[in-house]
Amino acid sequence: MVVAAIKEVNSRNIMIFGANGMLGHALRDVFPHAILLGHRDVEITDEATVRKVILKERPSVVINAAAYTDVDGCEDKEEHANAVNGLAPGYLAAACSESGAILVHYSTDYIFDGSRMDYREDDVPNPLSAYGRSKLLGEQSIQKNTHNYRIIRTSWLFGGHGKNFVDTILALSHQMPRVKVVNDQIGKPTYTVDLARKTPEIISREPGIYHITNDGVCSWYEFAGAFIPNAVPCSTAEFPRKAKRPAFSVLVNSKTTPLRHWSHAVKEYVLSKEVI
Ligand SMILES: NC(=O)c1ccc[n+]([C@@H]2O[C@H](COP(=O)([O-])OP(=O)(O)OC[C@H]3O[C@@H](n4cnc5c(N)ncnc54)[C@H](OP(=O)(O)O)[C@@H]3O)[C@@H](O)[C@H]2O)c1
Repeated sequence: MVVAAIKEVNSRNIMIFGANGMLGHALRDVFPHAILLGHRDVEITDEATVRKVILKERPSVVINAAAYTDVDGCEDKEEHANAVNGLAPGYLAAACSESGAILVHYSTDYIFDGSRMDYREDDVPNPLSAYGRSKLLGEQSIQKNTHNYRIIRTSWLFGGHGKNFVDTILALSHQMPRVKVVNDQIGKPTYTVDLARKTPEIISREPGIYHITNDGVCSWYEFAGAFIPNAVPCSTAEFPRKAKRPAFSVLVNSKTTPLRHWSHAVKEYVLSKEVI
């Protein structure tokens, strides 16, 4: 099913926004013939340019991996976060609707408040942070402007070509005898490579919202413990951050087969870094 979906989708004309980001890089490998657009090529908050680019190329699938992803930064720059994460996806959606393209967009577990043990695709969002509010606005803007969307909510992304938890913790692990990592936030780590490889299958499915993460649930401390020997647990209270994070942000995938367990994915990622 997956191989067939990749072949089928790749035979279409694909356009990727945010192609230079962490997920964008993984998507490039899955869609080698796609039209790649980075921030320098298109500013997605510029509605007229977004429309012009999509209507000129008339791709059959537009993938949006562009976003303002600095969760703490969003607290100080909520207007900017709303422009990039909230309104711009609506511009992409409107242009896709006009040109007949499918829109694929990535959203986040941070649209939920973490007061429940897990969240299905149809659970009611209640973001705790400016980032979460802006990403929820993005989902709503898309739904207002096109019916032909696939919104993929994911969580705790790690992978090459981006600032991510695994790289940060690996670096700290070499610099200090013990690395304190929070043990009271629970979620699902997700490898960009696995998420990107799942995307063609989601494109071939019906419009809607999909929760796609690696399988398995853990705390940040348990996650770190899988790839460094010197992690020690601590509480969120010991590490105050600007943006509030959900305590439980476990996305339940109720629509498709699960990805492999996060522990296998992170092993592969860490190994790939050692080879380099
Ligand atoms: N990272 C996570 O843990 C995580 C978790 C859940 C969901 N997600 C979602 O997954 C998607 C991909 O995340 P990621 O971690 O790959 O993000 P990323 O590495 O930060 O990449 C985002 C890309 O978007 C570009 N961009 C930012 N503002 C833009 C604008 N106004 N116009 C055009 N391009 C712009 C950035 O370019 P510049 O750097 O040049 O600005 C960057 O290349 C996002 O939708 C994110 O919300 C991420």
